[in-house]
Amino acid sequence: MSSQDIPEENLPAEQDHAHGAVKVADEENPFADPGLPPHEHRIQDIDERAAKRSERTVALLFTVSMLATIGFIASYVTVPDDKSIFVFPIGHLSAMNFALGLTLGVALFCIGAGAVHWARTLMSDVEIADERHPIEAPAEVREKVIADFKQGAKESAIGRRKLIRNTMLGAVALVPLSGVMLLRDLGPLPGTSLRHTAWSKGKLLVNMNTNEPLRPEDVAVGSLTFAKPEGLEEHDENFQTEIAKAALMIVRLQPENIKDKRELEWSHEGIVAYSKICTHVGCPISLYEQQTHHVLCPCHQSTFDLSDGARVIFGPAGHALPQLRIGVNDEGYLEALGDFEEPVGPAFWERG
Ligand code: FES
Repeated sequence: MSSQDIPEENLPAEQDHAHGAVKVADEENPFADPGLPPHEHRIQDIDERAAKRSERTVALLFTVSMLATIGFIASYVTVPDDKSIFVFPIGHLSAMNFALGLTLGVALFCIGAGAVHWARTLMSDVEIADERHPIEAPAEVREKVIADFKQGAKESAIGRRKLIRNTMLGAVALVPLSGVMLLRDLGPLPGTSLRHTAWSKGKLLVNMNTNEPLRPEDVAVGSLTFAKPEGLEEHDENFQTEIAKAALMIVRLQPENIKDKRELEWSHEGIVAYSKICTHVGCPISLYEQQTHHVLCPCHQSTFDLSDGARVIFGPAGHALPQLRIGVNDEGYLEALGDFEEPVGPAFWERG
């Protein structure tokens, strides 16, 4: 519908007399200001029912945003973080990540879409030409900005359209809750859990490759064997957390080559068990040099001497690798004689 088809009494009062004032370039002024094209009134300006429809659309978008935020919180609380789903065409992904991303995306999109629709259909449609001016902010300009702001607030009709105002305030107030909910992941505090591992007196040393308990005769001189505590299985819910502390390196040395007295006491027939977790920043150690009895961390080349209490002989690690005291049980299997006596892994805390 064009302004020519609208009865005169329905048209809003003209506020800009520059509309349609097209000047023509001539020889004297080849760059004449062409002015603004004739103004087309929107349907919402002349039809109260159309304005109401737009108002309801904006309110609906803000309401959907609120529901999506509530959906975000519900997903965070109810969706298991280890559940995965198939989403075409992306493939398999975490159900929680998908739900959180989708609901937060919808919540933010609906606020934006609601604000844009509000501005395009219901806010003042007056087109204003703003003359260029120096980049300064004299007092008159500041006063004008404040006056314009007040006028904009008045023209947005935020006081009159209470439905929009209330739903918008609700949507904008609820969205930050999404961020607040995520703060829950900062806890709980680890307490003393980092000081203890799954090892305890009598736990068998289980070969991580074969999943069989180790006997002394299974460990050859010069070999490197990785072990885990009996009862810790890969399908356990806390397997990753526990193995990150309990992973063990088993090496057999000639007893006469062991220089450290305590290391010799805590070994069995030259078999020594050390934490596999580097004391620098926690990489798993996996390189063993038979001739020198050195183990090397591949991350930053910290080197430990297994024949001398696993002390650091090179690299940034600040502490020797913790040793696990081992023995042999009545059935001839290697067993732990207790937990590590010091925290394993990175030395960023002071060891007690
Ligand atoms: S993590 Fe081992 S040297 Fe850095």
